[in-house]
Amino acid sequence: MSSIEVIGGEQLKGELRIQGSKNAALPVIAATILNKGKSILRNCPKILDVYHMVNILNELGCETAWDGNTLYVDSSNAACSSVPEESVSKMRSSILFLGALLGRHHEVTIAYPGGCSIGKRPIDYHLKAIKKMNVTQEFIGENDTMIHCYTDRIIGNDIFLEFPSVGATQNIILTAVLSEGTTRIFNAAREPEVTEVCNYLIRAGARINGKGTAFIEVEGVKELHDVDFKLSSDRIVAGTYLAAVAAARGNVLFTNTPTRHLDSTLRVLRRTGCAIEATEDTIKVESKHRPMPIDLLRTQPYPGFPTDMQSQLMSLLCLAQGQSTIIEEIFESRFQNVPELRKMGAAITLDSKENKAVISGVSQLQGAVVEAHDLRGGAALIIAGLAAQGTTVVRNATSIERGYEDICRDLSTLGAKIRYCSENTIG
Ligand code: UD1
Repeated sequence: MSSIEVIGGEQLKGELRIQGSKNAALPVIAATILNKGKSILRNCPKILDVYHMVNILNELGCETAWDGNTLYVDSSNAACSSVPEESVSKMRSSILFLGALLGRHHEVTIAYPGGCSIGKRPIDYHLKAIKKMNVTQEFIGENDTMIHCYTDRIIGNDIFLEFPSVGATQNIILTAVLSEGTTRIFNAAREPEVTEVCNYLIRAGARINGKGTAFIEVEGVKELHDVDFKLSSDRIVAGTYLAAVAAARGNVLFTNTPTRHLDSTLRVLRRTGCAIEATEDTIKVESKHRPMPIDLLRTQPYPGFPTDMQSQLMSLLCLAQGQSTIIEEIFESRFQNVPELRKMGAAITLDSKENKAVISGVSQLQGAVVEAHDLRGGAALIIAGLAAQGTTVVRNATSIERGYEDICRDLSTLGAKIRYCSENTIG
């Protein structure tokens, strides 16, 4: 298991290009199954989660190849409709193959994904929706851990989502693209990553209206065709590095930024005192002082403040000149960094009933050995380490590699003292 060592106290300076988006790449990779031909995906991040999805494509019979950050997928011979159980346990996003394989083969067998470190993460909305589209479902395997779904015809229907779930919206769209009739999704998720999978599918010949809104309409087509598609950049990686500059202080120009997807994050960072100048694809951030606190920060579906940025903001607010409150509205177990930040001297109280954290800012954090419990939590501990006095070791760094191409390279470019190290070199 690898760790990351950060020696705090260096300001961040310079210029950095933001990588392609993980949460856009994963559903688009699943969607390539619907196209019985070739897909070229440009600006695709080289991260563990993408490698897992590409492995599943290979297991399903696709041919894949990389050239730099361009991923080539040929799905012509993808004859298999069963996703191996270990793939689903490795990565929750593999549930997106549910809709994609149903659309392609009218049949899918896939393991029922368990919860993960950030919450229970059920898939009842996904299953309820596809049932309404004339798909039969049965639980199979020992202890009913697998779901087998099949149909002779997928028939479009009206779907009302109780909550604008990102994964459910994507799975419904994937199921509907090659269906008979029209599917209308009410209360659809408006996240850019839903828009992105729609953009890919439309490029490949799908008929989809209303992307980016809460009402999406998918009119089934007979088939898709070859497509060359550029993925957008990663709004959460950009947000993470912006928060890193805010915490460590300094002056950085980020390029290749998906600026219009970062509205709520930029608004919050400005409130903490950062000076931010943004264009369509660049963001310049300057941080000179201790951050200002945020009275109340709630995570919400897009365009609200993203749950995927909550941990990074918490690290920053640990250093604020006053008290801040964060309420996590999306996932029930996303405060796992709190005990780790306390090891570094943070003053945080938790109200687990309300999923609320009250953070009393301290003037200085101290380096410590801490544990990354999930992807964004790990990145947030690195942010705390950059601003802390002394050395911080973030263990279980593999979870960070799920979403960041090379966080050590990126932050070193900006002048941080940060490196990978193996567990046995930790004193
Ligand atoms: C979520 C985030 C997404 C983020 C991703 C990875 C939201 C709305 N979604 O997407 O921005 O990029 O995690 O961290 O912020 N739920 C059910 N039943 C279902 C599906 C979801 O009860 O069938 C609940 C979940 O438990 C959760 C909420 O709905 O409380 C949002 O889940 P959903 O948007 O589906 O999660 P992801 O697609 O993983």
